[in-house]
Formats: sequence, structure tokens, C-alpha cells
Amino acid sequence: MKNAYAPFSKFKVGAAILTAKGHIFVGCNVENSSYGMTNCAERTAIFSAVAKEGPGMEIRAVAVVNDHGVACSPCGACRQVTYEFGPDAMVFYQGEKGPKQSLISELLPEGFRLK
Ligand code: THU
Repeated sequence: MKNAYAPFSKFKVGAAILTAKGHIFVGCNVENSSYGMTNCAERTAIFSAVAKEGPGMEIRAVAVVNDHGVACSPCGACRQVTYEFGPDAMVFYQGEKGPKQSLISELLPEGFRLK
């Protein structure tokens, strides 16, 4: 989270994912002057894990934090990317009333997969 590049939103996010191999990968949001190019913390962590472990990387769990201490569950794009590599993954995040955990299948019912 502290390494986030978030000069536009001033909203720094950090994510960590636990893989089936027992490794933890971290990520942060990386914004861009062309706003739509922004990459969320969750996807940064997931892409880093694939780069290290390869295409067979499986996600067991995802954790998300932000520097405002406000509710922040993964965005729709990050839910879909999480589902691709971890359809049974547990997601830990800040809810409206404090820390929460939900299965990705609860956050993204009927997620799309080609395989
Ligand atoms: N953001 C994340 O990195 N993860 C989330 O779960 C929610 C939003 C980032 C994207 C953007 O850089 C900033 O937070 C404000 O939307």
C-alpha cells in the first residue's frame, strides 16, 4: 500500500494474495495520467504471481487494505481476474462495519471461465 502510485485519487491500496503453493505476492494500485490505464492493487499482485509461478498459479486467498481505512472490496474487474485463478478463493477486505471475508463466488456470482 505504501508503494502505491496514486497521485490522482490519493487513495492508496495494497493487496496480498496467497497461492496454492503457499507463496504470498503483494501489489499496489498504479494509476496513470490516462485514468483508464490504472491497475488496481489486486490485479498487480495477481499478475506478479503469474509472472513468478507461471500460468498454473492458483489463488487461495486475497487480502485488500487502503490508507483511508474505509470500506473497500475488490472492483468488478479484479473480482473477475481473481475468479480466473481462484474460483474458491476467500477474499479479506474492509467492509462498512469492519473487517469482512467473503468467497469470491459470493462477490462474483456466476463468474466467467472458458475452462
Ligand atoms: N483501487 C484498488 O486498487 N483496489 C480496489 O479494490 C478499489 C480501487 C484503486 C484504483 C484507483 O487507483 C483508486 O483505488 C481509486 O479508485
